[in-house]
Amino acid sequence: MFAYSYSRYGSPAVLEKVNVPTPAPKPNEVLIKICATTVSAADWRARSLTMPKGLGLVGRLVFGIKGPRKPILGTELSGVIDTVGTEVTNYQPGDAVIGFLGAKFGAHAEFVTMPADGNLILKPDNIGFEQAAAIPFGATTAYDFLINKVRLQAGEAVLINGASGSVGSACVQIAKHIGAHVTAVCSGKNAQLVRRLGADHVIDYCTQDIVRDGVHYDVLVDAVGTLPWSKAQHAARPSGRMVLIAGKTSDMLFGALKAKLKGKKMIGGVARESRELLAEVVGLAAEGVFQPVIDRNFPFDDMRAAHTLVDTGHKRGNVVVSVAKLLEPTKVG
Ligand SMILES: NC(=O)c1ccc[n+]([C@@H]2O[C@H](COP(=O)([O-])OP(=O)(O)OC[C@H]3O[C@@H](n4cnc5c(N)ncnc54)[C@H](OP(=O)(O)O)[C@@H]3O)[C@@H](O)[C@H]2O)c1
Repeated sequence: MFAYSYSRYGSPAVLEKVNVPTPAPKPNEVLIKICATTVSAADWRARSLTMPKGLGLVGRLVFGIKGPRKPILGTELSGVIDTVGTEVTNYQPGDAVIGFLGAKFGAHAEFVTMPADGNLILKPDNIGFEQAAAIPFGATTAYDFLINKVRLQAGEAVLINGASGSVGSACVQIAKHIGAHVTAVCSGKNAQLVRRLGADHVIDYCTQDIVRDGVHYDVLVDAVGTLPWSKAQHAARPSGRMVLIAGKTSDMLFGALKAKLKGKKMIGGVARESRELLAEVVGLAAEGVFQPVIDRNFPFDDMRAAHTLVDTGHKRGNVVVSVAKLLEPTKVG
C-alpha cells in the first residue's frame, strides 16, 4: 500500500510517499481501506516537533527522542472494512466506518488496522466520507472539555478563543447546542463563518481586545494559546472556569493553582480518546446539530500541500485528504 512516511522532524518536505506492506489484521482487529483522512494540529506538531515554549523535551519524549517513533501520521479517518480478524463479530467487510487513531496515528495511508472494539464506529449513511473523516479530532476534544470536564450549562456565557479552527469551530457548535451564550474570537475574515455556526457575538482579535472592561464570562476557552491566565482572569466571573486546550507552558504547569488562589478554576490537560466520545459526536453530526467545517479537500498525492496549509496556523476548521474514492455501500432490502 502507499503511505506518507517521515523519518526526521521538519517541514512538509520531510514527508515521502512510500510503498509499504499492507498490514494484516490480528484476530481481534479489522483492516480498513481508508477513504479520507485529515491533516490536524496534532500531525503538524508531531511532524515539525512544534511545542509550547519550554516543552521541546516533552515533545521528543512523546513523539520520539532521536526521530519520529510513528513514521505514518494521520489521527482520524473514514473508510470501509476490508477484512476482519478471526475473532471479530461486530464488523463485516463492506461496513463504512469512522475511526479515531488519535495519538497512535497511522491514517495517512491506504489501509490501517484497528482493534474491532477500539475507537471505531459505523458511519451513519447521511454523512459523506470526507465530512466523516473531519469529525473525530476537533469534536471529541470540544465535547470532552466542554461537556465532560467543564460541564458547560445552558444559559452560561462562554468565550471561545480560536473559534474558526478545528477544535474552536466544534466548541462553538456544541456550546450553542447546549444553550450557552457564545462569544467567538477569530479574525474578521472568519466572522461570518462563526456566526453561521451559532456565535452570538464575534470579537476580531486583529482589531479588538479579547478581554474588555465590564464583560465577564462563566467559561473561557483557549483553543489557540493566546489567552494567558494573566489576561483571562479579568474576564472570568467570580466562579468562572478557564479551559486551557492550548496555552502557555507556565499556565499548563501552574494555571490551575493560580486560578484556585483567585477562587476560580482552570481545566487543562489532554482530551480523552474513547469510542463513547466518538459515538456522541458522530451522533450529533448525524442529527445535523454539528457539522465539521472543511477548509479544503486535497487529493492523496498533495499530502505535502495539505500539511503546508495546516502549518500556516490559519486553516478554517479541517483540512481533508481524500485517499480513495469509495462508493457508499448500498443497502439491500
Ligand atoms: N489539549 C488537547 O487535548 C488538545 C486536543 C486537540 C488540539 N489541541 C491543541 O489545540 C490547538 C487548536 O487546535 P486546532 O486543531 O483547532 O487548530 P487549528 O485548526 O490549526 O487552528 C487554526 C485556527 O486558529 C485561528 N487563530 C490563529 N491565530 C489566532 C489568534 N491569535 N486568535 C484567535 N484565533 C487564531 C485561525 O483563525 P484566523 O485565520 O482567523 O487567525 C484558524 O482558523 C492546537 O494548539 C492543538 O495542538 C489540544
